[in-house]
Amino acid sequence: MRVPFLDLKRMDSELKNALKSKFSEMLDLGVFSGGEEVKSLESRISTYLNSPFSIACANGTDAMELALRALQIGSGDEVIVPAMTWVSTAEAVAMVGAKPIFWDTDANGLLAADWGEAITQNTKAVMPVHLYGKMVDMGNLMAKAKKYKLFVIEDGAQSFGSFQNNKAAGTFGDVGCLSFYPTKNLGALGEAGMCLTDSLELTERIRQLLNHGQKVRDEHELVGRNSRIDSIQAGFLTVYMDRFVSFQKFRKRLAGMYLEALGDLDGLRLPAGILGKDHNAHLFVVQTPKRNELKEFLSKQGVGTAIHYPLSLPEMTEFSCQGNFRNAGILSAQGLSLPLNPWMREEEIEFVSGKVRQFFLSH
Ligand SMILES: Cc1ncc(COP(=O)(O)O)c(C=O)c1O
Repeated sequence: MRVPFLDLKRMDSELKNALKSKFSEMLDLGVFSGGEEVKSLESRISTYLNSPFSIACANGTDAMELALRALQIGSGDEVIVPAMTWVSTAEAVAMVGAKPIFWDTDANGLLAADWGEAITQNTKAVMPVHLYGKMVDMGNLMAKAKKYKLFVIEDGAQSFGSFQNNKAAGTFGDVGCLSFYPTKNLGALGEAGMCLTDSLELTERIRQLLNHGQKVRDEHELVGRNSRIDSIQAGFLTVYMDRFVSFQKFRKRLAGMYLEALGDLDGLRLPAGILGKDHNAHLFVVQTPKRNELKEFLSKQGVGTAIHYPLSLPEMTEFSCQGNFRNAGILSAQGLSLPLNPWMREEEIEFVSGKVRQFFLSH
């Protein structure tokens, strides 16, 4: 048996056919930017996440940059960013001319609760990242941000469908940013992203910024850019939404199978709280000091895995800096993502679990 980490060709034929007929419908309609498909995606997501405003854009990285610009964060400002995240979080801060200030994560990769120690008089915002799909404790984070008058921009790129106390990831902060990159739990057939907010003023600013600074065609009030979503991607995402809840249930079932099969292994740390509502089971990240050997062993047995991420941000050339980033360092050295996606079969989870067990019993 061969189990790829993620193979999007495996999308089931029911979904493939629905996507094909959406494509055909849109081809006949001839609208490829803006239009009803974009509006209908935004309203669908607003309803599902209970977000007053949802603004679709070109990708998740842009969503964060647009959020920072809309909040007028730029040169001379500092933004607190976890040391372990996908590089985009810090890139967006750097792209608006502000400085990312890195802070360590907890053992699960979430911004450590003592991040307030990073605040200086230049700090304007904090960007919690709901890494691997697990949400940061937003009650505590919001209270601290409020106390220090900081903006909160949630990087919810990996956490679509996670809810804390029935409130969706991305709807706590001033702006929440989503990515619909194809590998995400809600993935486009290309690039797409979104900003969530409950502020009408921010909504208008973000819409303006992502469309060349215009509110009305040919009236460019701000220096903006083109970060519009493709109508076709909006259409595909709306089709995908019909299946989202059932895909989530299946992901959780598969994650539960891994937990049951691997729970007793010494030296293997399993993802905390992956079956909880505040985790969307985006990635199943285990941790072991024998990570590299395990990865190689699984690869030889036909099992694809991935590392999210092999370097913490302070270890990267462009963001290189000193500090105490112990937990982020452990994750980059010991974290390994096992395959988990709605196109896997239960036998495949059993196969992967069996191989992981075999590794630990023989090493
Ligand atoms: C944590 C995190 N932040 C930001 C992004 C950026 O999203 P995108 O690839 O849509 O620009 C991603 C996804 O790639 C991500 O995983």
